[in-house]
Amino acid sequence: MTPLRIGIAGLGTVGAAVAQSIVSQGAALAAKCGRTLELTAVSARDKRKDRGVALTKVEWFDDPVKLAQSAQIDVFVELMGGEGGAAKASVEAALARGLPVVTANKALLAHHGVALAKAAESKNIPLNFEAAVAGGIPIIKALREGLGANQIERVYGILNGTCNYILTTMEASGRAFADVLAEAQKLGYAEADPTFDIGGMDTAHKLCLLAAVAFGNAPALDGIHVEGIERVSIADIKFADEFGYRIKLLGVATRTANGIEQRVHPAMVQHGTPLADVDGVFNAVVAEGDLAGKSVYEGRGAGAGPTSSAVMADLLDIARGVRLPTFGAPASTLKRPVIVPMGEHIGPCYLRFTVIDRPGVIAVLSRCLADQAVSIESMLQRSRSPGEAVPVVMITHEAREASMTKALQAIVAAGVVTEQPVMIRMERF
Ligand code: NAP
Ligand code: HSE
Repeated sequence: MTPLRIGIAGLGTVGAAVAQSIVSQGAALAAKCGRTLELTAVSARDKRKDRGVALTKVEWFDDPVKLAQSAQIDVFVELMGGEGGAAKASVEAALARGLPVVTANKALLAHHGVALAKAAESKNIPLNFEAAVAGGIPIIKALREGLGANQIERVYGILNGTCNYILTTMEASGRAFADVLAEAQKLGYAEADPTFDIGGMDTAHKLCLLAAVAFGNAPALDGIHVEGIERVSIADIKFADEFGYRIKLLGVATRTANGIEQRVHPAMVQHGTPLADVDGVFNAVVAEGDLAGKSVYEGRGAGAGPTSSAVMADLLDIARGVRLPTFGAPASTLKRPVIVPMGEHIGPCYLRFTVIDRPGVIAVLSRCLADQAVSIESMLQRSRSPGEAVPVVMITHEAREASMTKALQAIVAAGVVTEQPVMIRMERF
């Protein structure tokens, strides 16, 4: 069989690892897919940078669009990143000429996924993106193929390795947020712009792709409520532990009678449940289907090895001649889902107020919550000297998000807190 000639645009953390796999694992991969994989061309910004892989026999392109148009490649692999720019232009160029594409770029697909999937479909070629969601966990394959016959009711998980690494390390070591973030960047987990990781946008990119494959709709990034981990403090991590919970950045997509609810935010998950024990750079995804019930997937969510593993799996599919619809359903049928506003979300919450310890303060907190029909399940106040600021921590029963927001606004307006209240949603999966 003729070799599969591969062109890679982007030779950073992921691209260099993919190039290395193709170059060093050629024989083993050929035995699996019945076809030799050949790295024939690459593109990056700096030609002189050592990539740790022999590229002397490989054609170099300064311009990734020119690489996508090269007659020397049969498949184009985009590993540069970014929702537009060179990534979008080169993927579009490859698809326009009927070249299969593999990408790890969730930002690109979250913004332009339907248009790109339609372009691929019109040429009857694959556009594969396993590496874009949850790194080394083959969750796209699981949802699109293994669970393909299920009606998925809910899909959720820990989708950002950088945030999980930061939260776990802060919890274990008490080290400051910025210090641990710098370490995650050094390890190659973080995005080029780490605010995408810590601000929750990277998780949102992945969640809308997961939801699209799970529910059979177009990715709806602008229909996701997004909060990051910037405000999670060691104090909240410790209180969470006292109540039997850990704090994780979650992405949750739920099919409801009124539409799809999609949210990304720090959440408390109970010790002993599948997501609570997922540590470090690990990700985990839970899918709930009508036939299979609940299935849980855990693995490394970022870094060179896990991400290149997913890219290579997509390449093996292409070498084998496998083509599946990008989002599991024909691109022409993908519609924007009806989005349930976050105000309608119902769930329990952890609240932490910093108050001056004086008579009547708890009464004000309770009245503001009661006025919005928010009921308190448990409460904790650590003693200090009267007149000093103290934390008051509460766990509420299930409440409507819109009511909780109004109650917190009333508490701030009543002048009994010295800092903005902290609210962390609790998940009882
Ligand atoms: P990275 O280390 O920053 O590498 C980016 C590469 O793209 C670099 O080699 C850079 O060239 C090249 N590049 C950027 N702009 C270019 C342009 N205009 N023309 C040619 N080359 C260009 O990024 P990464 O971490 O490997 O991530 C790549 C993609 O994988 C992103 O979409 C990311 O979201 C996704 N992803 C990453 C991970 C991870 O753990 N890192 C996991 C899953 C998915 P130079 O080296 O010459 O600067
Ligand atoms: N920056 C991402 C993360 C890379 O930390 O999970 C994997 O998509």
